[in-house]
Formats: sequence, C-alpha cells, structure tokens
Amino acid sequence: MISLQNVSKTYSVRGDSSVLAVRNLTMQVEKGEFVIITGRSGSGKTTLLSLVAGLTWPTSGQVLLDGIEVWRLADKEQSLLRNKKIGFVFQFPSLLPTLTSVENVLLPTMFGDKVKGDRSRDRAVMLLEQVGLNDKLRSYPRQLSGGQQQRVVIARALMNEPQLLLADEPTSDLDELTEHEIMALFRNIHALTGVTVLLVTHSNDLAGYGTRLIRMAGGAITDLDD
Ligand SMILES: Nc1ncnc2c1ncn2[C@@H]1O[C@H](COP(=O)(O)OP(=O)(O)OP(=O)(O)O)[C@@H](O)[C@H]1O
Ligand SMILES: [Mg+2]
Repeated sequence: MISLQNVSKTYSVRGDSSVLAVRNLTMQVEKGEFVIITGRSGSGKTTLLSLVAGLTWPTSGQVLLDGIEVWRLADKEQSLLRNKKIGFVFQFPSLLPTLTSVENVLLPTMFGDKVKGDRSRDRAVMLLEQVGLNDKLRSYPRQLSGGQQQRVVIARALMNEPQLLLADEPTSDLDELTEHEIMALFRNIHALTGVTVLLVTHSNDLAGYGTRLIRMAGGAITDLDD
C-alpha cells in the first residue's frame, strides 16, 4: 500500500543551513499493518508521515501510496484523495469549538462525494459510540476532556472509511492511563476494520500495540522489528 524507495527530504530554510530530515529511506507497508514509529525528537517521524500523505515532496526518491505519487497530483485531486483515503489524528485534538461532537465528526463528509444526510449522521453517531462517547454526542469540545476530544478526532478520522490512518503522537498530551486507553482504541479499530495504521509515538511503552515497530534516528530507520 505504501512504498518508499530511497527517499530523502531536505528542508532548506532561507538564511539558515539546510536540514536533512529523512535520509535515503526505503520501506514498504502492506495493507492492514499497524506500524508504530518511534524515535527521538527531530529524527524525522513527522516528515515521514507528511511524505506518505503527499503533504510534502521528497527531495529525491519515490513515495507511492497505492501506486500513486500523491504530491504530484493537482491540489484539488490531492485533497479529494486524502479526504477519501486518509484519516489524520494529530497530537493536539483539532476540533471546531462551535460544533458538537457529532457535527465535528460529520465535517469530512462536507467535502468529496461520500454518502450524505441521515446516513452520515447515523454513521457519525455509531463511530462516537464505538469510541465510547455515547453520552457526549451533543457536547462541545470545551465540555470534553483532552482524551475525549482525541476520541472525537479519531471518530472523525474514520468517518470517510479511510484505508489509511496516520496518527502523529496522538497520545503525548494525555496522562498514562488515558494514553493506554486511546492506544487500545486504535488497536480495536485496527482489528475491527483492517485499516492500515501508521502511528508515531515518543513512548517505547506503546510499541506493543502495533503489528510492527520502526525506530528512526537521524532521518533513517535504525531498527526493524517483526
Ligand atoms: N518545515 C520545515 N522546515 C524546515 N525544517 C524542518 C521542517 N520540518 C521539520 N524540519 C526539521 O527536520 C528535522 C525532522 O523533523 P520532524 O518534525 O520530522 O521530526 P520528528 O521526529 O517528528 O520530531 P518530534 O518528535 O519533535 O515531533 C528536524 O531537524 C526539524 O527541525
Ligand atoms: Mg513530530
């Protein structure tokens, strides 16, 4: 599903020296894997996710998602493809404060060509129930804890039935217990839907939730465990 072939990414910042964020990286991820990526701050984890999503282009090498070089597509096609295929979860929950849980989960259906109306609403409610928020359907983000907000984000990421879930440190802002609850939720969703997951974390304790662990250092994979 994902294929990176000798991929490097150099950021050049004006007036500053350039940074080699990803270094000649080659890896494949098969459909249905749950890959956990760890590594120190600055090791290139977020850059790797951005490359996979086509949000940034490789300085050299090739990044394929289902055989497509996403970053080469026109902007509109890129957005449509991401909206349809990829669910995103970031470190800090990014919900619209003026919308309820259900409305936030419905947001991805406003774009693209997926099912609309009542069926979407039913699905949003079903997903919020699945992430354990049956009693928070009409709550606004400010009425939710950080972990609950992250659950809404996860439900939103699943709304369009993505084939790929990209999560960048989704639990690092949470306490240890909540962190494990959210990871268990990812594991359940993965088992239930078979969605391919790429999840970045700082915490070595969480490595066991995936089906494969990749460690990064200095923009390269240092250790493959499977
Ligand atoms: N947009 C950018 N412009 C310039 N340099 C960047 C940019 N994004 C990342 N970098 C640099 O690339 C390197 C890798 O950054 P990246 O964000 O991928 O690391 P990371 O492993 O996700 O770190 P963290 O764990 O702190 O999130 C770092 O040295 C960073 O400073
Ligand atoms: Mg990062």
